[in-house]
Amino acid sequence: METCSKTPPSRNYDLLANCYDLLTAIWSGGAIRAARLWCAGLLDPEEDVLVVGPGTGEDVSDISFRGARVVIIDLSKKMLEATLARCRRKGGLAPEVIQGDFRTEHSIKNQDAVLAPFVLNVFSSDELPQIIAQLQDFTSDGGRILISDFAPPANFLPSRLLMELWHGFPMAIFHLFTGSAWHLIHNIPAAVEQAGMVIVERKRFRVFGIGPTWIEAIVVKMRNEV
Ligand SMILES: C[S@@+](CC[C@H](N)C(=O)[O-])C[C@H]1O[C@@H](n2cnc3c(N)ncnc32)[C@H](O)[C@@H]1O
Repeated sequence: METCSKTPPSRNYDLLANCYDLLTAIWSGGAIRAARLWCAGLLDPEEDVLVVGPGTGEDVSDISFRGARVVIIDLSKKMLEATLARCRRKGGLAPEVIQGDFRTEHSIKNQDAVLAPFVLNVFSSDELPQIIAQLQDFTSDGGRILISDFAPPANFLPSRLLMELWHGFPMAIFHLFTGSAWHLIHNIPAAVEQAGMVIVERKRFRVFGIGPTWIEAIVVKMRNEV
């Protein structure tokens, strides 16, 4: 069964693999890292975990080190290599690696937890429902999806404009170098609710630790399983 339409895959994360962590640290002042590690910290060592688009995989090395069975899927060979190198340095179990487009991967099922750290932002608003459906498809009954990404746009217009500016700059870079979609900030909490899910935990992260809470991590489950 095919759940996703095919916008072209964004393979060129290879180009940014060496500087990705530095770029996100400079741009978010640690908020992106804090959000993805908060999600990783919620996982149980006994769980089967799928990490979609792990990037350089600091969260993956943390989860694997604590003994969880982890599968990672990413289009970028360099990002996968960076994640594996981190896991080796940290010790612990080596994750199972799939190099490919998660939107067309239908063999992975029944994961206790599916992590999507800063991945939904790669895609357009039109594609978002299909991406969420695909994440649901990977998840077991009663399982959780943990998403870290940009927080939903603020209601107050000046704050919203500032947020869009802040979001727009890195998006322009990623659009240029990786072919990721050009779009306004997603309202991910609304999108998961429309997809029949409820948020069971959430946390906002301040840019540079003292700035606005423009990064958010949410844990979601199917509404009928809560
Ligand atoms: C913005 S980076 C996020 C990296 C990291 N998870 C983080 O927390 O910063 C997006 C990652 O998703 C991967 N990616 C993009 N499109 C993908 C696709 N269709 N299938 C699998 N991986 C994809 C990229 O190669 C990249 O590693």
